[in-house]
Amino acid sequence: MKKVTPKKRQSARKSHQSPERQSLQPSTQPGWAVVTGATSGIGRHYALALARRGYAVLMTGRRRKELEAASRAIAAETGMPVEPWVVDLADAAARSTFLDRVMQCGRIDVVVANAGFGYAEPFVGGPLQSARNMIAVHVISVVELFHRVIPAMVQRRCGALVVVSSLASRLPVPGSENYVATKSYLNSFSESLAVGLKPLGITVQTLLPGFTRTDFHRYDPAFQTRQPASHLLPWMKPEDVVRASLRALDRKRPVCIPGLGNRILAQAFALLPRALVRAIMRQRAH
Ligand SMILES: NC(=O)c1ccc[n+]([C@@H]2O[C@H](COP(=O)([O-])OP(=O)(O)OC[C@H]3O[C@@H](n4cnc5c(N)ncnc54)[C@H](OP(=O)(O)O)[C@@H]3O)[C@@H](O)[C@H]2O)c1
Repeated sequence: MKKVTPKKRQSARKSHQSPERQSLQPSTQPGWAVVTGATSGIGRHYALALARRGYAVLMTGRRRKELEAASRAIAAETGMPVEPWVVDLADAAARSTFLDRVMQCGRIDVVVANAGFGYAEPFVGGPLQSARNMIAVHVISVVELFHRVIPAMVQRRCGALVVVSSLASRLPVPGSENYVATKSYLNSFSESLAVGLKPLGITVQTLLPGFTRTDFHRYDPAFQTRQPASHLLPWMKPEDVVRASLRALDRKRPVCIPGLGNRILAQAFALLPRALVRAIMRQRAH
């Protein structure tokens, strides 16, 4: 992962805007970073951090006004080209148009598959479409995106892929069955990719954040009531999560659990007998 001075950033921005400059100064042409779910929270901080590192950024979300404001702010602060792309990743046709745009980027150096949501109607007794949408956003959209971008990375023998999963994916969570299952898919998918792509010069990271202060819980007004003990857990700021992830990416670590408190929790749950973990999670659900 690279670091770029403000002067180089400015010339990189100009080279993106002018084809002539591009051919005159190929070495200053920045590669692209694609960040899904960058309207707010963790994704927005990835977009900012990657633009600061000198990447042109393609950032997605559904809330147009917020996404455009975020991309303008990041472009103004970093001097890099930042493009907002509105897409509902649950919608197959919209995903396909987005993938076409991604493939027009040319050189893609970094992809962060971050878009996601926690709250959905209950799986048991709820509408099937709600579960399908979550599988589309968390799983299908990531599989489609990686399937498109990896071949060029393999050809160039470089690139970085980050998959934003969740610490909760390591637990049985009644009420969030589909959420933790989709994130478990991502763990397995990205760790396997990490092993296979490492010899080809591509770094793949699974990020497992714990509770993070973002817009994530805004759709779930009953969250605090259902999880009264959540305030005892080590909540993190999204910028700290992203800093930990990028530091781990620089060190080519395949798995990142940001925050000491979260790492201790993960270790504790891994050491407990699984029957006890299930009993704890059952208690927590009532
Ligand atoms: N916050 C936590 O406590 C926590 C913990 C563990 C893991 N995570 C994971 O971290 C990732 C980022 O979440 P966050 O905490 O930063 O929450 P956030 O602030 O709500 O950001 C989520 C992003 O995903 C986008 N998104 C959601 N549904 C989408 C859809 N159908 N199509 C396209 N984009 C969609 C949102 O776009 P719009 O808002 O514009 O729709 C937003 O940009 C998620 O994958 C989440 O599972 C979060």
